[in-house]
Amino acid sequence: MSKINKKVVVTGGAGFIGSYVTDKLIELGYQVLVIDDLSTGKLININRKAKFVKLNLAATNAPKILNKCLNGAVYVFHLAAIPRMQYSVENPIECHNANVNGLLNLLEACVKNKINKFIHSSSCAIYGLQKKMPIAEDVPFNLPGTPYALQKLMQEQYINLYANLYGLSAIMLRYFTVYGTKRQSEAGSYPNVLAAFSQQKKKYGKVFVTGDGTQRRDMIHVFDVADANIIAMNSKFKNGEVFNIGTGMTVSINEVAGFFGCLIKYIPQRPGDAKCYVADIKKAKKLLKWQPKISFEKGIEGYIKDVDEK
Ligand SMILES: NC(=O)c1ccc[n+]([C@@H]2O[C@H](COP(=O)([O-])OP(=O)(O)OC[C@H]3O[C@@H](n4cnc5c(N)ncnc54)[C@H](O)[C@@H]3O)[C@@H](O)[C@H]2O)c1
Repeated sequence: MSKINKKVVVTGGAGFIGSYVTDKLIELGYQVLVIDDLSTGKLININRKAKFVKLNLAATNAPKILNKCLNGAVYVFHLAAIPRMQYSVENPIECHNANVNGLLNLLEACVKNKINKFIHSSSCAIYGLQKKMPIAEDVPFNLPGTPYALQKLMQEQYINLYANLYGLSAIMLRYFTVYGTKRQSEAGSYPNVLAAFSQQKKKYGKVFVTGDGTQRRDMIHVFDVADANIIAMNSKFKNGEVFNIGTGMTVSINEVAGFFGCLIKYIPQRPGDAKCYVADIKKAKKLLKWQPKISFEKGIEGYIKDVDEK
């Protein structure tokens, strides 16, 4: 392994996606400092070669500690968040603090420490309900459906503002539905679909599908998302450019449920649930030269094996 004598900070590095971004950076020889409050992230997810600072990004002492943590860092990857839709409806202020105020504290420290590039994890949630699929980056946004969606939109706007005001160098990746391994947190009253199905299978011997299960999602493997982060870091883009990170293909919830090989029970549809959500990834393919490598069939096989080994 080559040793790159460069310090990189990963927020949310004890969480699902952040832990894989950390692993990749360590593999490449970077010195990684993980910042996470462990609210849903786990110590076991943090690469043993990374340094770790336990910190809530929105805490009153966060500006001072962040300033110290970012000293000498070249890149900052921001993955810390409370990324749960329904939880944000029930706890809008807590989520606003983590997702918006936490980001502001981090941006201030990035500017003070003259970071080379800020690599931001955004979300397709900011598009709101859309009629036309696939969704390209320049589509007009619809009303955000949850506080979480609004907070992700505010994050992007704050990053653009800091780019304009202070010349912050940044790139933003809008993920679609990320899945892949048991590191995905099962926290929150509405866990992601795969974590929900595996919990339900274990507990009730069946999975609960909302609506008729024909709703389709663009499911992107976490390893492909981690790759996109590294490519974004190395790319020439730095003026707040945004890129969709998905597969450009969909899988129905019935198909996902089918992989669990147990009974399916249908329950009422959730209000505001989109029928289909799929990324247009032409921009990332053309300009970042990134494209997903893991098919859903292969990815879900690995996921089920990983979860069964728990
Ligand atoms: N997983 C997905 O499908 C998905 C889709 C779109 C966008 N995203 C975005 O990707 C990023 C990472 O998501 P994830 O799925 O890895 O989530 P995750 O919940 O697994 O990880 C988030 C991490 O942030 C930490 N955290 C939360 N609040 C914090 C705070 N105030 N201070 C410090 N640490 C805090 C948690 O402990 C956790 O380790 C988030 O910004 C999320 O909005 C995820």
